[in-house]
Amino acid sequence: MMTKYILSASILSADFSNLADQIHQCEQAGIDWIHVDVMDGHFVPNLTMGPFIVETCKRITSLPLDVHLMIETPEKYVEDFACAGATSLTVHPECNPNIHRTLQYIRSLNCKAGLAINPGTTPDSVEYLLPLVDMVLVMSVNPGFSGQYFIRESADKIAAVKSLCTKWNLKPDIQVDGGITSETISIPKNAGANVFVSATSIFKDTDGIAAGVYRLRQSLK
Ligand code: DX5
Ligand code: ZN
Repeated sequence: MMTKYILSASILSADFSNLADQIHQCEQAGIDWIHVDVMDGHFVPNLTMGPFIVETCKRITSLPLDVHLMIETPEKYVEDFACAGATSLTVHPECNPNIHRTLQYIRSLNCKAGLAINPGTTPDSVEYLLPLVDMVLVMSVNPGFSGQYFIRESADKIAAVKSLCTKWNLKPDIQVDGGITSETISIPKNAGANVFVSATSIFKDTDGIAAGVYRLRQSLK
């Protein structure tokens, strides 16, 4: 069976003075999901958006809203993001001793549960969380900013996640986020990822959003 590759556009690099237009351009270019990067200035050294932006995106588009929570104590906020219209909520195990409970909580809110691992976190350390998740996100940069370089070792981690999932007979989506360009995207694809997040290569393409999406899609063929 042919793998359906999903492109998720991170609005972190969008022009917020024209957010609706930027998202509509993504839709027309065939983007599958909209990725919302939520940062709290504690878990990562940057501050970005809250539930209000998710609710705004929900009014702009019917595309799935893929919400990446780079925040401490995410359990305090997942209900707000679910009510705002998130399709999936992805949380990090680093700094979250109760991640098992948080993942169950996300599913109880009728959202898909995602688990993200930082570049320094090993796949083995999250093995027993895999039955609770709909998606594993392997970070291919240290989270916090767009426009960083793809960390090549993340391909080995994607392959390791894939093999743990096979061992447990699980088939979550495997997402990769950070430094994805038309030059790098085949690396995580060949390692087993099926969902690709990109901010810079979509919103900062000098030829426009449609050209950026086209280049990524072509490189996935
Ligand atoms: C990084 C974020 C990413 C980021 C990707 O902390 O989670 O989603 O926006 O940006 P690019 O595609 O520019 O690396
Ligand atoms: Zn992200």
